[in-house]
Amino acid sequence: MCGIIAYVGAKQASPILLEGLKRLEYRGYDSAGVAIINGQLQIVRTVGRVSVLEDRIKEIGSLEGTIGIAHTRWATHGEPAEINAHPHRDDRHGIALIHNGIIENYTSLRKYLEERGHVFASETDTEVLTMLISELYDGDLEAAVQGALREVTGAYAIAVICEKEPNTLVAARKGSPLIVGVGANEYVVASDASAIVAHTSQAVTLEDYQVCKLTPTSFRTSTIDNEHVTPRVQELELELEQIELGEHQHYMHKEIFEQPNSLRNTMRGRINLREGRVVLGGVGQYARDLVKAKRIILLGQGTALHAAMIGEYLLEDFAKVPTEVEYASEFRYRNPIIEEGTVAVAVSQSGETADTLAALNEAQERGALTLGVVNVVGSSIARETDAGVYLRVGPEIGVASTKAFTGQVAVLAMLSLFIARRRFMSTEQSRELLGALECIPKMIEQVLADSDRIRQVTERYIDRENWLFLGRGYNYPTAMEGALKLKEISYIHAEGMPAAEIKHGPIALINDGMPVVFIANRGAQYDKVVSNIEQVRSRGGRVIAVATEGDKDIKNYAEDVFYVPDVPDPLSPLVTVVPLQLLAYHAAVLRGHDVDKPRNLAKSVTVE
Ligand code: M6R
Repeated sequence: MCGIIAYVGAKQASPILLEGLKRLEYRGYDSAGVAIINGQLQIVRTVGRVSVLEDRIKEIGSLEGTIGIAHTRWATHGEPAEINAHPHRDDRHGIALIHNGIIENYTSLRKYLEERGHVFASETDTEVLTMLISELYDGDLEAAVQGALREVTGAYAIAVICEKEPNTLVAARKGSPLIVGVGANEYVVASDASAIVAHTSQAVTLEDYQVCKLTPTSFRTSTIDNEHVTPRVQELELELEQIELGEHQHYMHKEIFEQPNSLRNTMRGRINLREGRVVLGGVGQYARDLVKAKRIILLGQGTALHAAMIGEYLLEDFAKVPTEVEYASEFRYRNPIIEEGTVAVAVSQSGETADTLAALNEAQERGALTLGVVNVVGSSIARETDAGVYLRVGPEIGVASTKAFTGQVAVLAMLSLFIARRRFMSTEQSRELLGALECIPKMIEQVLADSDRIRQVTERYIDRENWLFLGRGYNYPTAMEGALKLKEISYIHAEGMPAAEIKHGPIALINDGMPVVFIANRGAQYDKVVSNIEQVRSRGGRVIAVATEGDKDIKNYAEDVFYVPDVPDPLSPLVTVVPLQLLAYHAAVLRGHDVDKPRNLAKSVTVE
């Protein structure tokens, strides 16, 4: 949830670290800090955005030195205050440390360290790790870090420097991602590739329990038990332009508009229309297990859970495999029953969501075959699953997930058809659905062209504080997703639910002028949705409908209509969600919020 960057080399570290922090800011933005060694350790920390830190550094004058670490934080232990911001320092040896993750046994370690005379300035678990390294330091920073990490439980990605070894940077990971960019006589360590690509395309992804010791001219990887590890230097798949805003004002806008192309990438090479087959290299070797699966469990959180809910319908509808979907956070603690023939599928953009990862491990331990439907290549979920299908939608930087959602739904549709064709589905039926799936990018382009009108409609409702989003069947999860988008970036209260559910209580909320968004595409339950619209209208609700092009009747029931092209009902969420993403985006902009960095949130949730 936090962003880490560290540098050692011949250049001035401070500009590289600040630039990296800006790239990583989407991971957390409560507070930020930097530590540089130039003869002695200097630390600057501020509450708020990286720009505040930058201004503070300018006020101080220059912050010179060619080795340093920097961090942008999403608070877990301790409020967002300067005292709790990273880097944390120890004064005995001049050690500074940045950390992403959670040290679970920090209470007992803190007690032990206090007994040994260490004085703590903050409430954080990170400071405990800093002091533990200091306690073990005996002239060898790498050895002290290894020793300390043998004592801690929990998750960490860390970078550490020490005044007494002014050319050495030590980094390590367990459970939180950490990448070492390998340049010419310089190294850039970061929690994701976006902060590295501007400097080098060569990198090593550290594995759990690995420690890396870097100097301007050397690089050594070991385990926390000091066993040598041969590093695997790989080409980063990320291009700098993929993470630039370009002509867009916000990443969310860019990512919504990228969806036609991101979906083309998701499908590229995976659809054989002539044979009505889906080719999924990442699960190929488990094809037989999938075809014979007795039960599929889909796990995720937030937007990924909504995509999984659509996946449940698709898998039962197409592949006829009993499927259930569950919040990963609930699954992991409820003693679930996993019988032989169960496949657990973790759906996650980041591949690092703590609850999803833990639920996956739980399913694995109980004997399930595990698959990942993940965007970030090489992420923890991607590595810990038996097999999987990457989304290939490119980096998603806006905190509100958009193109990952459509990528997840498209992958789950392809996975369903992959199984269905090997079970009961005819070539003809599969061909028809795959043909429709291939047309989706074009259809989304049409919806995007309506963005300005969607903004005008949104403007009319912008002062309303309570919204409902309703849908049925395949578009019940879309309604949930529409509500989540609106609330997370515009801070407007919104609820999404099955349209029929309102009669069981929520209809009491409807008063004069309350905006109620209905997903009323021409699907299996169209007539039922129209009845639900009548119920809302007769109680004073103002209906905004997402409807199928050519549906003139809907204008008799809805105040405003967002038209989407006609697509088969099971694939319709891929187009019906787009006006809802745009509505949320425009609402947040109209209310003057920071669209890409909504309050209290962070891009990937690596804590419980
Ligand atoms: O990285 P993941 O897909 O596992 O993340 C899951 C949720 O945290 C994420 O979808 C979250 O709900 C987004 N902010 C929604 O826009």
